[in-house]
Amino acid sequence: MTTAHLKLHQKGIVILDFGSQYNQLIARRIRETGVYSEILPYNTPIQKILEKKPSGIILSGGPSSVYAADAHLISPEIFEVGIPVLGICYGMQLITHLLQGKVAKGKIGEYGKAIFFKDTDHMLLDRVPHQSQVWMSHFDEVTKLPEGFVTLGHTDTCIAAIANDSRQIYATQFHPEVSHTTYGKQILTNFVKNICKTQSNWDLYNYIDQTVYNIKKTVGSQKVILGLSGGVDSSVAAMLIHKAIGDRLTCIFVDTGLLRKDEAQKVMKTYGEHFQINIKHIDASKQFLSALKGVTDPEKKRKIIGRLFIEIFDKQAALIKDAVFLAQGTIYPDIIESQSAKGGPSATIKSHHNVGGLPEKMHLKLLEPLKELFKDEVRKIGLELGIPHHMIMRHPFPGPGLAIRILGEVTPEKVKILQKADAIFIEELYKNNLYDKVSQAFVVLLPVKSVGVMGDERTYEYTAVIRSANTTDFMTAVWSRLPYDFLDKVASRIINEVKGINRVAYDISSKPPATIEWE
Ligand code: XMP
Repeated sequence: MTTAHLKLHQKGIVILDFGSQYNQLIARRIRETGVYSEILPYNTPIQKILEKKPSGIILSGGPSSVYAADAHLISPEIFEVGIPVLGICYGMQLITHLLQGKVAKGKIGEYGKAIFFKDTDHMLLDRVPHQSQVWMSHFDEVTKLPEGFVTLGHTDTCIAAIANDSRQIYATQFHPEVSHTTYGKQILTNFVKNICKTQSNWDLYNYIDQTVYNIKKTVGSQKVILGLSGGVDSSVAAMLIHKAIGDRLTCIFVDTGLLRKDEAQKVMKTYGEHFQINIKHIDASKQFLSALKGVTDPEKKRKIIGRLFIEIFDKQAALIKDAVFLAQGTIYPDIIESQSAKGGPSATIKSHHNVGGLPEKMHLKLLEPLKELFKDEVRKIGLELGIPHHMIMRHPFPGPGLAIRILGEVTPEKVKILQKADAIFIEELYKNNLYDKVSQAFVVLLPVKSVGVMGDERTYEYTAVIRSANTTDFMTAVWSRLPYDFLDKVASRIINEVKGINRVAYDISSKPPATIEWE
């Protein structure tokens, strides 16, 4: 590691993860202030935390109660190492508990928006007005402050912010990382800049240079293989590695035949022709379609596709005899999700079907240049590297592809029908400036035929469903409120232009209880 590279990671903020669903948001908000941040499991040994040389530590929220038998507790030693600490929600209760204050069950709990009243001016609340909206999600509350602490603010039901300046310990009962806390970003900035005195050290432009340098150093004169899917992560990883080692990177692009219309050509044109990346385009559509013949169960489809993908990828990779590294587009959320709040950090390989099993069998070393980045950071880097905006801002596409959007048996005829209908929907979204306003949009083909009439002829054809979802995390989603006139245009174009479809429906289910995909 170079000295310059170290600079990107030192003096950052360490977030100890007690299991809150908002933890990734804390890390992102801190990075938005220009400061590196990293999430570690709550039970990371203090020595390990200190090795990171953090300039501040955040104790996150979490679902447990400090009094529960299985509560996530830590040693109060954390308050003795001379690093400022900010507790959020459970983090505030934990500070109180560990320092001999009192936490008790609230009378009613507090969930959602609340009004925060600032009781006193303080550097943590710099530029926060006397009244502002905050986001709460707690049942327990602090009822007695530990010695040496003062209350900085309250809501109608609880003590909402506390501080002990001489020990540099601070806490909020509300979640500053959530956008519904109007001055949340200001409070996190105050902690990072005013209290931890951190200089900006997280800069994506530097990240590109540093990463390219590191890849060169790690790979030396050896060769790298990468499974390119055309998605954002694998494409940006390919571009970074290509920038570092040029033709010593070989990408393998397995075309399952279950991709969007003209997808393979687009990927080859953008990354192969335009950026001159060395890509092996493997057209395996016949193999996939014949393996899926007669299969209707969604999970079986996924398994068959996953297995075949690995088989084909492995075979192609083995042909590149002297490859030493397998590159993956693993990103930071993949790593965070694989390290549980209870277990230690286990930066395991992304369990994505197109790479599973390969490194062990082939003794390849892993190269994961994006593993410290959030998705929006990967996108920024992609744009900076010159990848066209429309390739970078694409909606996610599932590994099993159209096979799980053709309900029931997948046939070559149905794939063609769906590709055409889907392409019309996506084209209209772009034309009407709606593509970037929805998170994921596609067409689903049902195995249901219904009667229609075209000209003087009776038709008996398939039904297509338009699906469009809005979401931030894909865990929950609402259906997109697309304009009626737009839906009308898409439906009539699909029915008129795609032979095989005579009826179009619009999916108005949210997740949960529905899922975004239909299978
Ligand atoms: P659901 O349908 O579970 O989808 O609401 C959430 C997100 O996950 C994607 N998805 C998949 N991605 N392999 C993938 O790589 C799969 O088997 C798979 N199933 C769903 C889906 O497209 C959405 O973005």
